[in-house]
Amino acid sequence: MCGIVGYIGNKDAKDVLLNGIKRLEYRGYDSSGIAFIEKGILRYEKTVGEVKELEKKCNGNTINANMGIVHSRWATHGAPTVENAHPHVDCHGEIAIVHNGIIENYDYLTTYLTEKGHIFKSQTDTEVLVHLIEENFIDCIEEAVMNAVKMIEGTYGIAVISTKDPGKIVAARKESPLIIGIGNREYFITSDVSALLEHTRNVIYLDNHEIAIVTQDNYEIKTIENIPTYKTVEEIIWNIDMIEKAGFQHFMLKEIHEQPQALQKLMRGRIDGDKGSIKLGGLTNCEKDLLAVKRIVIVACGTSWHAGLVGEYMLEELVRIPVEVEYASEFRYRNPVLEKDTLVMAISQSGETADTLAAMREAKSKGSGVVSLCNVVGSSIAREADAGIYLHIGPEIGVASTKAFTAQVAALYLFALHMLLLKERKHPRLMEMINKIKSIPDKIQIILDKEDEIRNIAEIYKDKDHALYLGRGYNYPVALEGALKLKEISYIHAEGYPAAEMKHGPIALIDKNMPVIVIAIKDSTYGKIVNNIEEVKSRKGKVIAIATEGDELIKEKVDHVFYIPETLNVLTPLLSVIPLQLLAYHIAVMRGCNVDKPRNLAKSVTVE
Ligand code: G6P
Repeated sequence: MCGIVGYIGNKDAKDVLLNGIKRLEYRGYDSSGIAFIEKGILRYEKTVGEVKELEKKCNGNTINANMGIVHSRWATHGAPTVENAHPHVDCHGEIAIVHNGIIENYDYLTTYLTEKGHIFKSQTDTEVLVHLIEENFIDCIEEAVMNAVKMIEGTYGIAVISTKDPGKIVAARKESPLIIGIGNREYFITSDVSALLEHTRNVIYLDNHEIAIVTQDNYEIKTIENIPTYKTVEEIIWNIDMIEKAGFQHFMLKEIHEQPQALQKLMRGRIDGDKGSIKLGGLTNCEKDLLAVKRIVIVACGTSWHAGLVGEYMLEELVRIPVEVEYASEFRYRNPVLEKDTLVMAISQSGETADTLAAMREAKSKGSGVVSLCNVVGSSIAREADAGIYLHIGPEIGVASTKAFTAQVAALYLFALHMLLLKERKHPRLMEMINKIKSIPDKIQIILDKEDEIRNIAEIYKDKDHALYLGRGYNYPVALEGALKLKEISYIHAEGYPAAEMKHGPIALIDKNMPVIVIAIKDSTYGKIVNNIEEVKSRKGKVIAIATEGDELIKEKVDHVFYIPETLNVLTPLLSVIPLQLLAYHIAVMRGCNVDKPRNLAKSVTVE
């Protein structure tokens, strides 16, 4: 969702800001805007649509500034229009602000400020903030910001510039992430490190209720109560190559193909095959607490929720601990029962999903320990959890999550083995379980090498309006994930179901136009799933089966079969999801959809 970049230094601010905001396009947005201070005058441009439109507007003007702020907006309050795009500017055109988050008491503040004579030009919640800063300004912009943010309820990550106190950018945060990048006599402000990587990897993460005052030569961080705080400079391990497409047509395709290496990175240093041990560094300080855990509640959203469902099956089977998986948004509003020996696990690729963060805080307030499973290092969820596991798979840029799903499932498997070893110290099948996960990257590669087979199937079904995905056991969450992938990037209506539930509704939809993708792996439910296939075929539905290599019988029962290598039942989601990712990708490309930036979706959903 919304992105912020700020720059002050020796370079041309326009180039730095536009390149930076382009790096954040993947997050999803519908309009954008930029502001500079040039020779003491505030200049700004805004547009609806892609950042390249903003670039065109900027290129039409000579702008010669060494500081400025830029924003990409994902509409919440007010339609995506030029007026509603950020930056928002005060009544006299002297203060500009960009804002991520939501100001909840904006109605009240708008009335208050209107009575004081302020003129509003947009329908956004954000605009009140710039008028509040204007109202509070005496002679110092950071003081005005401190006083203004104390009056608002809600969340914010903001960057502010003003001609009345030039030469500085003021940034402040509550709930919406904000990061200060430290270069050589230049500083950056951003909501997402991807915007910084080509300039610096040294960063400071602002915490809630902190404010940064950044000039060309220095930076200062305080609380909004004006108390200086000491912050450590951290180094980001991601580099610029990781956020480039590396020759692939789309980030999504690149990330699908990166999965073998991603899983290798995830496992590196964590599995000792000789000793038969699992090492999860982020959990070493809480092993005693983990031993006492009697129940696990997983909270997540979207694809991460699907990974959590696979985790439920794994943990219950391997560790024999009861597990529940909750939509984070539902969990926090239903007064959940949490005991001291309940462990809450928050799964989030971005580590910034507002509902997951809120659910995790709810759990902490009720006294539960929280373990996070995140990809983005330093993200809010990772920082607020008591302990955590990082995926270490590099940035995921495609809005449709792919490599994060397989990495989350693999990490949950390592977590399950870790819990098992904590409880039982050894296990007769441990070596087999370790060796099987180690062979998964090669098996994924075997599937990726058969991409053409999937492309051919995509060609046949690309014009359909609906699709049904069925699976059982470990592959039921994969059916959900396959359907989600197809609907989010190709806009085909798709539903995932546990195969047996088909009889309780979806079967009514089946006719010769309905493609049904069935994950029919050779496991204990195979016989049952073959029955489900017969039910679809007898109603003339078209069946695409994902089957285990060597299963010749299934060929006669279905319209198309795609084989995946054999592995342990518990690990099949890591293989069966790959053809479904590729199918969604190729269908979406054939339909001319923008796969990396699907309409209305955001990579990181930072509003509840
Ligand atoms: C958005 C993204 C999904 C993602 C979900 C949860 O909807 O488009 O790809 O699965 O958020 O995100 P998280 O970062 O918490 O895993």
